[in-house]
Amino acid sequence: MQGWIPFVPERASTLAPKVDGLYFYLIGVTIFFTLLITATIVFFVIRYRRRSPSEVPRPVAGSLKLETLWTVIPFLIAMSMFVWGADLFFQQYRMPKDALEIYVVGKQWMWKMQHTTGQREINELHVPVGRRVKLIMTTEDVIHSFFIPAFRTKADVVPGRYTTLWFEPTKPGRYHLFCAEYCGTNHSGMTGSVVVMEPAEFDEWLSGAGSQESPVVAGQKLFQSQGCTSCHGANGEGGKGPPLVSVYGSTVRLEGGQSVEADESYIRDSIRNPQAQIVEGFRQPLMPAYYKEQLSEENLLQIMTYIKSLAPGRTQGIQTTAPARSNNERTGPATPEGQGATNPDSQRSNPVGSTPPSTRTTGPGQ
Ligand code: CUA
Repeated sequence: MQGWIPFVPERASTLAPKVDGLYFYLIGVTIFFTLLITATIVFFVIRYRRRSPSEVPRPVAGSLKLETLWTVIPFLIAMSMFVWGADLFFQQYRMPKDALEIYVVGKQWMWKMQHTTGQREINELHVPVGRRVKLIMTTEDVIHSFFIPAFRTKADVVPGRYTTLWFEPTKPGRYHLFCAEYCGTNHSGMTGSVVVMEPAEFDEWLSGAGSQESPVVAGQKLFQSQGCTSCHGANGEGGKGPPLVSVYGSTVRLEGGQSVEADESYIRDSIRNPQAQIVEGFRQPLMPAYYKEQLSEENLLQIMTYIKSLAPGRTQGIQTTAPARSNNERTGPATPEGQGATNPDSQRSNPVGSTPPSTRTTGPGQ
C-alpha cells in the first residue's frame, strides 16, 4: 500500500503493519460515514425540499426501531475501535522479557544512548534486525519524547523516572528518530537516526569500538566509591542494608505489609529516595538520599545496571570487556536457570538460523 499512498512512512518494525491496519480501519470508517452522511444530506435536500410557500411539513412521531438501530450500530463500531486499539496498546507497551537492552538519556537537545557493552552513541542508535530491543529511558532535564515513525512507536522520557519502549526492527536501513515533545529552543533539531543492521554486522559494529567500560563495571565502581558496600556488602550480599543479589525482578516485601515488584524504577527510586519504600526489617533510616548533585542520571543508570546484574555465583570480578553484555541482556525476573544462562536462541525472534559467535558468549560467571 506504501507505493500508492505516499504519506505513510516506511514500515520497519513488527508493530508497524498492525498500527497501520488500525489506522486504515479508522480512516475507512471515517470515509464511509462522511460519504454516507453527505449523500444523505444531498438526497434529503432534494427529495424533501419545500415545494410551495404555504407547505407545512408532516409531524414526525419517531421510530423506536430506527433509533435502536442508529444507537446500536455506532456503539458496536466504537467498541471495535476500542478493543482493537487497546489490544495494540498492550502489545506496544508491555515489555518483552527477552529483549536486548539499551539505555537512553534525553538532554536538551540530544539523545545519548549506551549499550550494555559500554558502547556510547549520540543521536544515533544501532540495533540488529529481527531482534527485540528494549529501551530504558530517562532525561536529565525536561520531558522529551522518543519517536521512531518507521517503527510506529513513541514514548515520553520523563524527569525522575524510567520509561521503556520496545520494538523489533524487520528491515535493515536508516530510520529517522525525532523528539516529539516540545522541549525548548532547539527541539526541532533534536533528531537522529536508528540504524538497523544485520545481526553479524551489528556484532561487528558493537565490538569495533574497542574496550569501553560497560555500565555494569562503571556501576560497580560507583557502588564502591559511593560507599554502598558498607551497608549492602562488597558484592551486594547485604548487611546493615538489604541484600541486593537477585533483587531485580523479584517481589520485595515492604514495611507496612505492602510488596513491590523490583523493576528498574524501583531500584532507581530506592537510591534517590530510600525512605519512600522501606524493605521489611530495615526500618532504621540509615541510607541517605542520593540527589542529582551526587549521582547524575547516567551514574544512576550505571548503578542500577550493576544491581540488576547481581546474581548468586557471579558477584565477583566482573570483567571490563564485552562479555558482561550477555549478563545484562536478560530483562525479566530471574530465570530458574540463573543469569547468563539464557539461551541466545531464545532471544531471537527467528530461532532458526545461525547465531553469530559473539551472541553466543556466556557470562563471566559461567
Ligand atoms: Cu527534546 Cu523536543
